[in-house]
Amino acid sequence: MNTLDNAIRWILETRPRRIVAFTGAGVSAESGVPTFRGATGLWKEYRAEDLATPEAFRRDPRLVWEWYEWRRSKIREAEPNAAHHALAAAEIALESRGRFDLVTQNVDGLHVRAGSRRVHELHGNIFRVRCAANRHRFDMLEPPGEIPPVCDCGSLLRPDVVWFGEALPSETFSQAAEASSGADLFLVIGTSGAVYPAAGLAQLAPRGTIVDINPDETPFGRVARFALRDTAAAAVPPIVQAVVEALS
Ligand code: OAD
Repeated sequence: MNTLDNAIRWILETRPRRIVAFTGAGVSAESGVPTFRGATGLWKEYRAEDLATPEAFRRDPRLVWEWYEWRRSKIREAEPNAAHHALAAAEIALESRGRFDLVTQNVDGLHVRAGSRRVHELHGNIFRVRCAANRHRFDMLEPPGEIPPVCDCGSLLRPDVVWFGEALPSETFSQAAEASSGADLFLVIGTSGAVYPAAGLAQLAPRGTIVDINPDETPFGRVARFALRDTAAAAVPPIVQAVVEALS
């Protein structure tokens, strides 16, 4: 039965040591950061082709930047929630007893703000920029003085995120793939599983290791040992607490 209590009991019995938390926009929903899909998702209101592709940026860099600045301002106002905090605390608590990899599709940086350390950001980070000529890459936390911002080298700056049609950062993806295939607990938290290759990482996780945490049905539910239909802030803290307890 897919209950939180059963999942906790299984964790206490099996004492997983190599934990991967694979997160999507849903983990930040309770921090007030909009998700992409679903009734109130960004892709209901905006077209990805107009805002999140290299072609869109070439066509209208100002429009793309205005949309990213709006998202950046929402994220600046947001705080990590109980799920982000619990994941960070578990990684620190497990330090010498286990291995904890946080693999995220999110660009909001909330896992790092909560204190997670081994974070693999598959889709980049919205507070980092790089120049379109691909020579310079740096953090830009504050709003740019002008939109679109220009690099010292003269080319346009763009958010250092992965857009549709672009490759994922290869080293980050390989590290995430390696951690996934060695996991003995693979937590899937707040992702619709709609976007590849990120969603494919769950297929690398050894059979029977997936616990899916999401209030809605997902494609991971069919293969998960437990499909917990709860929110991240409700289910992640007790689940990771069980992991820490099992290894104490
Ligand atoms: P989606 O917006 O596709 O999915 C968000 C998921 O979070 C849904 O399955 C919701 O049911 C779930 N959810 C909502 N509230 C939740 C809560 N409080 N707790 C737990 N889950 C909750 O977001 P992603 O799966 O992250 O890519 O989307 C993947 C990628 O598609 C993104 O990284 C982005 C997007 O287009 C790029 O920009 C390249």
